Amino acid sequence: MPGTILVTGGAGYIGSHVVRRLGERGERLVILDDLSTGNRDAVLHGDLVVGSAGDFHLVQSLIRDYAVEAVLHFAASTVVPESVEQPLAYYRNNTLATHALLEACADSGINIFIFSSTAAVYGLPEEVPVAEDAPTRPINPYGSSKLASEWMIQDLAEASDLRHITLRYFNVAGCEPEGRIGQSTPDAHLLIKVASEVALGKRDHLAIYGTDYPTRDGTGVRDYIHVEDLADAHLRALDHLRVGGASAVLNVGYGHGATVREVLDTVQRVHGRTLPIQEAGRRAGDPATLIAQADKIQRVLGWQPHYDDLELIVRTALDWESRMSGKGGGND
Ligand code: UD1
Repeated sequence: MPGTILVTGGAGYIGSHVVRRLGERGERLVILDDLSTGNRDAVLHGDLVVGSAGDFHLVQSLIRDYAVEAVLHFAASTVVPESVEQPLAYYRNNTLATHALLEACADSGINIFIFSSTAAVYGLPEEVPVAEDAPTRPINPYGSSKLASEWMIQDLAEASDLRHITLRYFNVAGCEPEGRIGQSTPDAHLLIKVASEVALGKRDHLAIYGTDYPTRDGTGVRDYIHVEDLADAHLRALDHLRVGGASAVLNVGYGHGATVREVLDTVQRVHGRTLPIQEAGRRAGDPATLIAQADKIQRVLGWQPHYDDLELIVRTALDWESRMSGKGGGND
């Protein structure tokens, strides 16, 4: 019988979607989350333990008490501008916490580790679509703190029997179709989240950051992926490692992108109303185009997207936003 899965950050936006899917297929789960941005209501399965993924002794005792077999590590600080203002907090919450977690894994003989990384490790890529072996040159502490974690994981895997799947997420959006969990980060800055808040009247306008990029309509292009497809990648990563599959670093994206204007057109169409949109200057550090080369994950994990549809992504994001307005809260 498979052991328990330890999910750090399982009360957060992406972690809670993965917990839901793991729970639905009958996995035993223990969720470790400090609830700094996550919400206990988002944890639909398993036992929630409130604490830090960087607490070596706590993790060690959870691994022992729950007979943990595998670790999925989502817990992290993820707001890029905040990382620029508070770099040490990002290195502490992301890099140092991952170090302590890895030490607890090594100490307890855990050899299956799935890590939430980010396209931010690529910085401003020279070539798009960007492949996993492209140079990693993050341009903010968020990306650096994740890249440093990647290195530790890879070095430990070289030195021990730990095997890992490191998933580099592109632009994640949407929520589960039933709308019980979603994204509720305060002071959101991500495009689809901000546009949903504007649509629901929670903000008075949305700014397009840059209309002079060398793209098809002058605005930035991103590879938006539905959180349900991302969740599926984690389940497949777990299955792969459980049967002895090799470690890998994998992009999670669809391999094509949408411009800011295309996203906003979709939001307006789905919402049925025009949004107050202003054109503004470029935001520092934004690449013109960021698209995943997405064939490796399909090859290694057999992953296939099922929600590759901007309208569906936007509709689930808008539905969630309006549910949150209704109940005056939500989860992160
Ligand atoms: C951001 C991070 C990236 C991280 C990812 C997931 C930055 C600079 N990048 O990606 O490192 O991996 O989140 O956490 O923060 N846009 C607008 N108006 C807005 C918001 C966004 O025009 O109000 C545009 C942006 O200029 C960009 C696109 O929309 O072209 C997507 O932006 P966003 O959703 O913030 O994500 P990224 O910046 O791609």
